[in-house]
Amino acid sequence: MALPDWTVYLPVLCFASVCGGFYICRVFKCARISAWKNSPIAKLMARTEKPLFWIAYSLYTRTKLGYIFHKRQMRKARERYPAGHSRTQPTIINGIKIIPVPILSDNYSYVVIDTASNMAVVVDPADPQPDVGFSNIVQFVQINRILNEKDHSGGNRALKRRYRSCRVYGNAMDNIPGLTHPLSDQDTIDFGTRLRFRAFYTPGHTVGHIIYLPDGRALGGPSSLFSGDLVFLSGCGRMFEGNASTMLSSLDTVGSLNDDTLLWPGHEYAEDNLLFAAEVEPCNVVQKQKLLWVLQQRGQRLCTCPSTLAEEKQYNPFLRSHSQDLHRALGLQQKQDEDWTSYRARVLEELRRRKDIYKDR
Ligand SMILES: *[C@@H]1O[C@H](CO)[C@@H](O)[C@H](O)[C@H]1NC(C)=O
Ligand SMILES: *[C@@H]1O[C@H](CO)[C@@H](O)[C@H](O)[C@H]1NC(C)=O
Repeated sequence: MALPDWTVYLPVLCFASVCGGFYICRVFKCARISAWKNSPIAKLMARTEKPLFWIAYSLYTRTKLGYIFHKRQMRKARERYPAGHSRTQPTIINGIKIIPVPILSDNYSYVVIDTASNMAVVVDPADPQPDVGFSNIVQFVQINRILNEKDHSGGNRALKRRYRSCRVYGNAMDNIPGLTHPLSDQDTIDFGTRLRFRAFYTPGHTVGHIIYLPDGRALGGPSSLFSGDLVFLSGCGRMFEGNASTMLSSLDTVGSLNDDTLLWPGHEYAEDNLLFAAEVEPCNVVQKQKLLWVLQQRGQRLCTCPSTLAEEKQYNPFLRSHSQDLHRALGLQQKQDEDWTSYRARVLEELRRRKDIYKDR
């Protein structure tokens, strides 16, 4: 069986985990929330009024029933894409290797390896069991299972003992099972001599959403942004647990980062997002070019990340709430008594509303 390129690195990852590798886990909750987004119930509910939506959402993200449903969805995705949904390639920046790991139907998890110190960081190890035929993978899997089971059935002590040395970073607010290192906004975490991750608190999708930025300065290269469910190529996450003003200030955090920052999102949504962007801003030339490229990539099931923030600022409508072209396209105008930020939040809300109708994700 032909295995995708990234599987080669999994044993490295497993090795690193046993030797005290580091795991950055955004939120386990995010796994279920993203699964929720594609579920048939969500599709049905997205169009109905809010109370109904919230009942279903709570059932799904907080109850045993939701968990069973989530597991079933994960199994189905594994059957459908036994070798991963996309073909990915590692990107190497001065000895730091970033490997997108395609999981389930369209999610990405990432492995960052410092080749000099052989240290691995895993961002969002969401799927407990990517089935790639490596027996070593079990180690990767089980760390996740700890997160899972502890959440729902009291945890698996034996496994936890085995991976005692593994650090789990995340937001304390999100109640992550197995969390060993709670983070707050702007915290920095150093790994080895050259990897410095900065955490930014970016609520909106969930209350505790965090994005991670390995700083490029220490590497003499561009920074990388692991944006989770906040920003995707040409898109942004749904506002499950925050309003438009909250989401806007999180998006502004992204907008304030250097233009050469590489964007590594939590999902492969590029094609869909750019098709939506083309509908909203039909005269955006940069977006047209990117769409052509993305269609070409996706035609061969190739991964579309990373893009750069410079590019995103030109075509991602959710990062363009200040753009007059976009305002015109949406038919919106600032009101007399409305301040600029509230106006931009209203633009963002309208965009999100249109996207929700356009496709439910
Ligand atoms: C990943 O996303 C897909 C579709 O959005 C979903 O079905 C799946 O359950 C998600 N899984 C995780 C672990 O995030
Ligand atoms: C949005 O949510 C934040 C935080 O919960 C709150 O402070 C703010 O007033 C809300 N804004 C609007 C317009 O509802």
